[in-house]
Amino acid sequence: MNIPRAALPLTLTFAALAGSAAQSQDSPRQRLNFNENWRFHKGEFADAKPLGTGYALEKWRWKSGDAIADLTSDTAGDGWQDAATGDNVFSGKVGFAWFRTTLKPSPTPTALQFASVDDNATVYLNGQKLSDHRGWSAPFSVEIGDSWKANAPNELAILVENTAGDGGIMGAAGVQIGAPIVSGATRANYDDSSWRQLDLPHDWGVESDFDIDLPGETGKLPWVGVGWYRKTFAIDKANAGQRVILEVDGAMSFAKVWCNGQYVGGWPYGYASWALDLTPFIGAGAPNTLAVRLDNLPDSSRWYPGGGIYRDVHLTLTDAVHVAHWGTQINAQSAGDGGKNARVGVKTMLANESANAREVSLISTVLDADFKPVAKAESSVKLEAGATQTVNNALTFSNARKWNLSDPYRYILVTQIKDGDQVLDRYNTRFGVRDINWVADKGFLLNGKVVQLKGVCMHHDLGALGAAWNHRAAQRQIEILQEMGVNAIRTSHNPPAPEFLDLCDEMGVLVLDEFSDTWKIPKRANGYALLFDEWAEKDIRAMVRRDRNHPSVFAWSSGNEVSEQTASGGVAISQRLTDIFHSEDPTRVVTSGNNNPGASRNGFEKTTDVYGYNYKPHLYGKFREEHPGIPLFGSETASTISSRGEYFFPVKPKLEDSLADFQVSSYDLSYPGWATTPDQEFEGQDRNPAVAGEFVWTGFDYLGEPTPYNSDRTNLLNYSDPAERARAEKELAELGRIKTPSRSSYFGIVDLAGFPKDRYYIYQARWRPDLPMAHILPHWNWPERVGQVTPVHVYTSGDEAELFLNGISQGRRKKGEFEYRLRWDDVVYQPGELRVVAYKNGKPWATQAVKTTGEAAQIQLSADRSTIKNDGDDLSFITVKIADAAGLMVPRSNPQLQFTIEGAGEIVATDNGDATDLTGFQSHSRKAFNGLALVIVRAKKGQSGPITVRASSDGLKRGAVTLRASAAANADG
Ligand code: GAL
Repeated sequence: MNIPRAALPLTLTFAALAGSAAQSQDSPRQRLNFNENWRFHKGEFADAKPLGTGYALEKWRWKSGDAIADLTSDTAGDGWQDAATGDNVFSGKVGFAWFRTTLKPSPTPTALQFASVDDNATVYLNGQKLSDHRGWSAPFSVEIGDSWKANAPNELAILVENTAGDGGIMGAAGVQIGAPIVSGATRANYDDSSWRQLDLPHDWGVESDFDIDLPGETGKLPWVGVGWYRKTFAIDKANAGQRVILEVDGAMSFAKVWCNGQYVGGWPYGYASWALDLTPFIGAGAPNTLAVRLDNLPDSSRWYPGGGIYRDVHLTLTDAVHVAHWGTQINAQSAGDGGKNARVGVKTMLANESANAREVSLISTVLDADFKPVAKAESSVKLEAGATQTVNNALTFSNARKWNLSDPYRYILVTQIKDGDQVLDRYNTRFGVRDINWVADKGFLLNGKVVQLKGVCMHHDLGALGAAWNHRAAQRQIEILQEMGVNAIRTSHNPPAPEFLDLCDEMGVLVLDEFSDTWKIPKRANGYALLFDEWAEKDIRAMVRRDRNHPSVFAWSSGNEVSEQTASGGVAISQRLTDIFHSEDPTRVVTSGNNNPGASRNGFEKTTDVYGYNYKPHLYGKFREEHPGIPLFGSETASTISSRGEYFFPVKPKLEDSLADFQVSSYDLSYPGWATTPDQEFEGQDRNPAVAGEFVWTGFDYLGEPTPYNSDRTNLLNYSDPAERARAEKELAELGRIKTPSRSSYFGIVDLAGFPKDRYYIYQARWRPDLPMAHILPHWNWPERVGQVTPVHVYTSGDEAELFLNGISQGRRKKGEFEYRLRWDDVVYQPGELRVVAYKNGKPWATQAVKTTGEAAQIQLSADRSTIKNDGDDLSFITVKIADAAGLMVPRSNPQLQFTIEGAGEIVATDNGDATDLTGFQSHSRKAFNGLALVIVRAKKGQSGPITVRASSDGLKRGAVTLRASAAANADG
């Protein structure tokens, strides 16, 4: 790829603003989408094996400190001591140590191999620097090249840096003679032409078939293992001398990156965003190669994590003097009294990576959404060579338009670095002016007004698209949730894609941004606990620096149901993490999701600013009494389970009575032992109005964790009562003997395909009280139940309703105190029409009917958007409905469907919301599930014109829908 100098008109530049930065006309900075044309290989290579011919390095001389003049000098005296490979020489001390050894005479070795140097290693041979390995204790190898002396002692020196915990040459080290140790796939000239070509984002798990023998907990998909990506690219000669930064929004996981055969670095946490400086490894004009190795360990997640470079990648080019990565920090709020004036505190980190000190000016300009300047600050800065410097500025302006949920207005901060008239950098950051505050006896306040958190927890997968980030798919999820009344999302249990936050900024949704599901004490054998000591601080800082300018982010969560809640040392860890968050962002509160009541009274509750209770509506009152000064909210609630369109009789509240065929009844009365119905949670909040609201588990179904049909040991963590836990253990042992087909959750209010379940409407009734609505459940197709009692429940934003069956009143019911659904438990089934008339304050408010349908007769298709962009990314979600002759959806119809597509589009995936369907998401043939299926269509890149999707099934009238692919933005989306 040749990278031309940016030449966008200024207006276009701003229009193209996506997230924190974009390229601009007169600045050397360019942020290039780097998603296209990668090569991919799944699996490890035969040559990537550990030490073959060669010998191990077992004995060292070591010395504390990083000061050394001669890398080949004597190691006999002067502080030098013996050490063996595996010795922890730092014992928790942060700092540097030198390790030295003399290599054996041998034929010229090819490489040095290290299984684990903790943390960073700079490797020298005979005084020549060979490599700088940044990173944790991941294996790496160093090519020896021409530093080897054939007939002389070869002196190896390693400067080891320890940033925390243990440190030293902790794992096997050796000298390789002959074939290279690290796979040839890292080499610049490696022939990858046989590898598959693809564009990112990519998830190698979701594109495969389900395998019933894989754990349901992680979606029965093959996301575990090693995957390699390579990309060849050129940097235009005109850009020679620029800094070249690789920015990865997310790669699952243990990413390691080589550039032109040289190891650059990596990042292990798959949910983190990170950047690497490629500058020292890049050749301008020549083809450069990147090789990325990912490695997903088995038993490392409690849900489907995905596998691959599953979020966007960018390449950023800058001048040697530039705004540092994530280098702007904006704190914009009302000036003084919460009035209309805004005060924008800006901290800018400048980097001078040139060899000379530079005098520059830093100009910060606030533009409104129409790009009109509203405030400006300028300072002169002297930047030392090779240094970074942070500059503080404060800008004020009047008549600020606040960011709020109904008007998510954003300003743009333009940061310019100039040397005289020459612009060295221009960096754009969108932000919002808003005031956030928590008051213990009121709840959460946005711009001075109490906002009840109508929140849902969301895992990061996008259903049939897996973990691979897609803007439209995430936007659709948020639209569906907002229609229900959602105003907040908790990104359980990890930082989201950065574009997700852009969407929330833009759509007016609050975000509780979460760091991790685990600290030091493991939930899964190979989960985040492996990384915690070395990486927690780095991961938190990376997350906060990336996300702190987003107006939607209103709080940080340091963890979820960590075992440290009541373990010894847990209080100190929690406090340390909170302090890290505060040091990066003093403007937002820190909270965590706590399921163990012990954590509310052992000091843990004082380590965060706001207390989050998971599944404890019955304890809200007690907490308020015991801690009147600590704001409280439901960080995770309900966990009601259901399958869309499934109803089992007789209707009983016990979970065991509502299970069949690996489905869960949709009367919304079923929940695992630690959880509640939506109604119980509402009651807890209504009895305690100071509780700031809730985050329901979960908004959408997600891949993995198919409770109650899992053998998911981690769910036992949800039982704090030993008797309950023992009972669950027994139950799980029994279920473990069954090959359960379930591969996705039942917790969602909306199913995996995006179709609302009944529960959607109990939340809509509460969260959108002004929307006249009523919803009846179940459907009314029960030929086998004629004459039998078939309870009817109604969710309505009214306070009273009358139910009619075939015109005959079944009674008028009023919601009592702490009642959130109206029930007619004694309706005797007769086919026909059920109709409800809801009232509010005695006046007719809303009405709804369900009818017994005829036989399935036809297939109807409808697209959520009829024009999509042909950018290779935009999607249309097509609902496939099985209808009777009159067009009514037939609830219990599951015919096998065949999908075809013609024209400028392709089918990306299909789904139906059935958690037990093991048909791969790639299949163009799938059953409907209770009357519905979904086809996800993408326009072929660069192609315009009609796209026709057809669906057929034996005995049914075929259905079709036509949409358009176009280069223009959506007409209707
Ligand atoms: C919670 C946990 C979630 C999920 C949920 C299911 O305890 O935080 O990650 O497992 O249970 O009910």
